Amino acid sequence: MWDERYAAEHYIYGTKPNKFLAQNFTEIPKGKVLCLADGEGRNSVFLARQGYNVTAVDASATGIEKARKLAQDNKVNVDYIHADLAHYKLAAEQWEGIVSIFCHIPADIRIPLHQNIITALKPQGILLLEAYTPEQLKHGTGGPPTAELTMTADILKQELKGLEFNLLQELERDIVEGSHHTGLGAVVQAIARKNN
Ligand SMILES: C[S@@+](CC[C@H](N)C(=O)[O-])C[C@H]1O[C@@H](n2cnc3c(N)ncnc32)[C@H](O)[C@@H]1O
Repeated sequence: MWDERYAAEHYIYGTKPNKFLAQNFTEIPKGKVLCLADGEGRNSVFLARQGYNVTAVDASATGIEKARKLAQDNKVNVDYIHADLAHYKLAAEQWEGIVSIFCHIPADIRIPLHQNIITALKPQGILLLEAYTPEQLKHGTGGPPTAELTMTADILKQELKGLEFNLLQELERDIVEGSHHTGLGAVVQAIARKNN
């Protein structure tokens, strides 16, 4: 499905970074950052341009191909990994930052992934996440087709126990991020730190 969507010539989520990431990336200590479900590379390339050492994972080969081109065009290096997050194992205490932007995967993959994120962050490392909430289904401005694939602040509190939330909020915001996310959107945003 994602390969088909990304077969479009243009970057369907644009080449500019996600707004929440662009506003808050400085919370992530300089160093290694992992971008989950990075798609066509707008967020990984942005972080590499800010001087981070970036690795990005996505299950779409077509998305990764476009991401590599975006990195090349921007003269930055990003380590792109073609993998399904159901099987991708994050090693312990590796990352200053983990970025999850619109990573909508089934709960049976998401829950173990979130557990894994807690272990994989270095002490003082930051998780920065934005995702659609179930409220998004009424907007029809992009996002996953079912509530099961969405997240809420309560879900994140539950699944990311062990991290300290510097920010955890649900809100509606205007999302203008490519042709596939355009209009009023209902999202949950989190910035969470691993304290030990
Ligand atoms: C809505 S797009 C967001 C892309 C990117 N984060 C952005 O904000 O531009 C969702 C991405 O999740 C990826 N994805 C979905 N399920 C996945 C899985 N099980 N493992 C890895 N990537 C997955 C898709 O290939 C797609 O690139």
